[in-house]
Amino acid sequence: MKLIGLNREEVKNALKTGRVTIAVYGMGKMGLPLAAVFADHGAKVIGVDINERVVENINRGENHIKEEPGLDELVRRNVEVGRLRATTDGIRAAKEADVMVILVPTLTDERGNLKLGPVYDVAEKISKGLERGDIIITEATMPPGTTESLIPIFEKSGLKVGEFGLAHAPERTMTGTAIRDITGQYPKIVGASDEKTLEAVIGIYETINGKGVIPMSSIKAAEAVKVFEGVYRDVNIALANELALWCEEHGLDALEVFQAANTQPYCHLHMPGAGVGGHCIPVYPWFVINLAKKTNPRLIKTAREINDSMPHHVVELTVKGLNDAGRPLKGSNVLVLGLTFRGGVREFMKAAAKPIIEELKEWGANVYAYDPLCTREDAERFGAGWKEDFRGIDAIVITADHREFKELNLERLAGEMRTKVIVDGRNVLDPEKARKYGFRYLKVGNAG
Ligand SMILES: NC(=O)c1ccc[n+]([C@@H]2O[C@H](COP(=O)([O-])OP(=O)(O)OC[C@H]3O[C@@H](n4cnc5c(N)ncnc54)[C@H](O)[C@@H]3O)[C@@H](O)[C@H]2O)c1
Repeated sequence: MKLIGLNREEVKNALKTGRVTIAVYGMGKMGLPLAAVFADHGAKVIGVDINERVVENINRGENHIKEEPGLDELVRRNVEVGRLRATTDGIRAAKEADVMVILVPTLTDERGNLKLGPVYDVAEKISKGLERGDIIITEATMPPGTTESLIPIFEKSGLKVGEFGLAHAPERTMTGTAIRDITGQYPKIVGASDEKTLEAVIGIYETINGKGVIPMSSIKAAEAVKVFEGVYRDVNIALANELALWCEEHGLDALEVFQAANTQPYCHLHMPGAGVGGHCIPVYPWFVINLAKKTNPRLIKTAREINDSMPHHVVELTVKGLNDAGRPLKGSNVLVLGLTFRGGVREFMKAAAKPIIEELKEWGANVYAYDPLCTREDAERFGAGWKEDFRGIDAIVITADHREFKELNLERLAGEMRTKVIVDGRNVLDPEKARKYGFRYLKVGNAG
C-alpha cells in the first residue's frame, strides 16, 4: 500500500495491519534488527542482501548477528509467521515494496573519504523497481548532502522526486543495543523531500519507536544530526584526554576530578582513554572537515589529533611503569589485552591496540595479545603473538573494555607475571585492588 498522502495515524494503521511492504537493503548488524522490528510490528518485510548465506540463514529463521540480544527470537518468530523473508534480488524487492530502506555499509577510509559503492548499487536496483508513491529512506550514516546526491540515480526510474518520496532517518544505535535503541531508547530523527513524505515517514517510525520522532526541516539537517552526535563525542573525549594528561603532570587523578565536576549539571566530562576507534566517532568529524569549504573546523581537527595521539601516550605510560619497576621496555614481555576497538564487539577499525603494538615492537618489546572475541590469527595480523596466560609477562596494557577484563583475577595475575605493571587504557580495573596485590597501576589521567 502506498503511503504518500496518508496521515501518520493512517500509516500506523496500515503498517500494523500488514498492508505495507518494506524492503530493507543490507541485512547486517543494523539492517537485520530493523527489519525484524518492522516485521514484529506488523509490516511485511523483505530483507535484501548480496550475501547468499545471510539470505539463506534468515529464510531458515536464523539470526546471524549473535551480538544482538533478543534478535534470535525476533527473527525466528517473524520468519515463522511469514512477515519476514530475505532475498538477493534487490530489483524484485523494490518492485514489491512500498518503502525501501537503505542500510548497507557507507564505507570510508580513516579520513572519512567515502566509497559509496554499496549505496550506489542499491540505489540502481531500487531505481529499476521504483513506483509512483514509493518512499526511499536512507538510514545508513551519510555525510550531509549524500542522500540527495542519489536523486539522479533514483530518477533513472523515469519518476521525479515528489512522485516518489525520499527521506533520511539516521540509525542512532550501536551493535549490542540495536533493538532497544530502534524501539525507543531515543527519538527517531527524520528529514524528507516534502511534507507528505515527512508525514508518512513519521507514521512509519512512530509505529516502532516509543520515544517518537523529531521531524527536521530537510534531509540534509537530518544527516547532520547523526554526524554532529559523533563530532560531539570525539571533541569531548579529546577534552577529557587533554585534561587527563594535565592531571598526570600535576599528580592528580583525572577521574576523581571529573566525577566531582560532573555533579554540576553543566559539566559532562567524558572518559579519557587509549584512543577513539570504530567506524563512527573517529570518522564522522572528517565528514565535517572534508565538507568545510569556507569555515575552518579547527577545534574538530585538533580533537582528532589529540585522540589519535593517545595510543602513543599509552606506550609512554608502559615505559614509565616498567622503568619505575626497574626494567627497560626493550626486551620486556608486554601483553596487550584487547584487539577490538571497544568491549563486546568484534570490530577493528582504528583499534588502539594496533598502533600500540606497533610502537611497543619498534622500541624492542616482545609483544603478545589476547582478546576473548579474537583468534591467534587476529593477533598475528596485528603483529603480536597470542597468549592466554600471564606467565613471564612484565606489563599488561588494557586497550578494550571487554567484560572479561573487568573480571580479571588479579591474584592469579600477581602470581603469574614476572613484573607487576598494569597500564589500564580503559579504566576497567579497580586501582585500589590492583595496588593491594602489589601492581604498579597506571591509567590515562593517573600515571601512578
Ligand atoms: N554498526 C553500528 O554500530 C552502526 C551504528 C549506526 C549506524 N551504522 C551505519 O549503518 C550502516 C550499516 O552498517 P552495519 O554495521 O549494519 O554494516 P554490516 O557490515 O554489519 O552489514 C552490512 C550488510 O550489507 C550487506 N551488503 C553490502 N553491500 C550490499 C549491497 N550492495 N546490497 C545489499 N546488501 C549489501 C552486507 O552483505 C552485510 O550483510 C552503515 O552506514 C553504518 O555506518 C552502523
